[in-house]
Amino acid sequence: MLTIFRLLIVRDMMKLMLFIPFFFTLFAYANEPITPIPQSIAYDKEKALLGKKLFFDTILSKDKTLSCASCHSFLHGGADGRKVSIGVNQAQGVLNSPTVFNAVFNFSQFWNGRAKDLNEQALGPIHNPIEMGLSLEEAVQRLQQDTYYHQAFMAITKKSTITQDDLAHMIAEFEKTLITPNSKFDRYLMGKETLNEQELKGYTLFKTLGCITCHNGVNIGANSYQKMGSIIPLERDTPIDDRYAITKREMDKNVFKVPTLRNIALTAPYFHDGSVPTLYEAITKMLYHNLGIELTNETIDALVAFLNTLTGDIPSGDQ
Ligand code: HEC
Ligand code: HEC
Repeated sequence: MLTIFRLLIVRDMMKLMLFIPFFFTLFAYANEPITPIPQSIAYDKEKALLGKKLFFDTILSKDKTLSCASCHSFLHGGADGRKVSIGVNQAQGVLNSPTVFNAVFNFSQFWNGRAKDLNEQALGPIHNPIEMGLSLEEAVQRLQQDTYYHQAFMAITKKSTITQDDLAHMIAEFEKTLITPNSKFDRYLMGKETLNEQELKGYTLFKTLGCITCHNGVNIGANSYQKMGSIIPLERDTPIDDRYAITKREMDKNVFKVPTLRNIALTAPYFHDGSVPTLYEAITKMLYHNLGIELTNETIDALVAFLNTLTGDIPSGDQ
């Protein structure tokens, strides 16, 4: 009896020891306000593969010229590199395309958070007249009539008709795969890499100046709504698609979902209206309007250097 007991203790101790390195990695960033992107998250492979095909397929736009990837290109960090997006028939959008990378970690979707998750978001661009401009009835009908898609959906859903929900669901499942682990900064948090002096100075400033109050968590943002111009108001004639458009509360004018700073070096131009071409300028504006401070070039360069460490492994996007 005693031997069994001892054996059990030894076995449990060994189990515990296996966990020790794990605890160390946890502790390494337990006190940090930013947490690393996980190496992978759970998703359904079959659905994601179908979602991937849909994401890159122009079948979902009215004139078959645009796919989701046209405005969320893997060559532009999951955005489109334009000031504002251009939809079917060259329709000029009013908003800058946000990245789809790590969007699964956003607490809501769109600049003003009007979709609660990726499922709810996915159908929006298809029937938006200044994006893909295709009615959802027609979108589903096109897929239904396409032999490949019809069979692929049936194999997964076991139903003979494709619904709008099915369509959203496959795309959302694919988007779960678009996470970007292993940035230099995440590797630093995990104790696997060192930051150089300037990068480290940038990170310290990011925390001490107060950027961190709005840009924190796994996505370094995307977990609260904040005012653009919270300290020194922005002169702007017509705020567009801000929180006010949803709540109609005066205090929500110029309030947006704080954007993620993951891969930020790849997604210029910046801000909801794409009004700012460089990171340097974006930081200068943030400092002035949202923290009420003006700083030297050297300080801003350090913040840029820190933001440059936030670029992770980019999904391959091969079709
Ligand atoms: C014509 C360009 C265009 C196309 C095509 C397009 N998008 Fe977007 N996407 C945008 C713009 C612009 C926004 C921001 C709109 C807003 O906030 O109101 C956006 C927002 C998003 C967001 C929210 C990200 C965030 O941080 O809030 C996701 C996710 C997304 N799109 C996925 C998709 C998917 C999936 C498709 C294909 C079904 C698609 N997009 C097609 C331009 C486009
Ligand atoms: C009060 C909250 C708040 C603080 C503090 C803050 N930000 Fe922001 N940040 C935002 C909001 C909101 C936006 C979106 C503004 C817009 O689109 O008009 C934003 C946008 C940005 C962008 C552009 C992101 C994109 O994808 O377009 C960068 C870069 C940025 N912030 C960096 C910083 C840095 C660096 C600091 C510290 C100097 C900082 N922010 C402080 C709320 C904040």
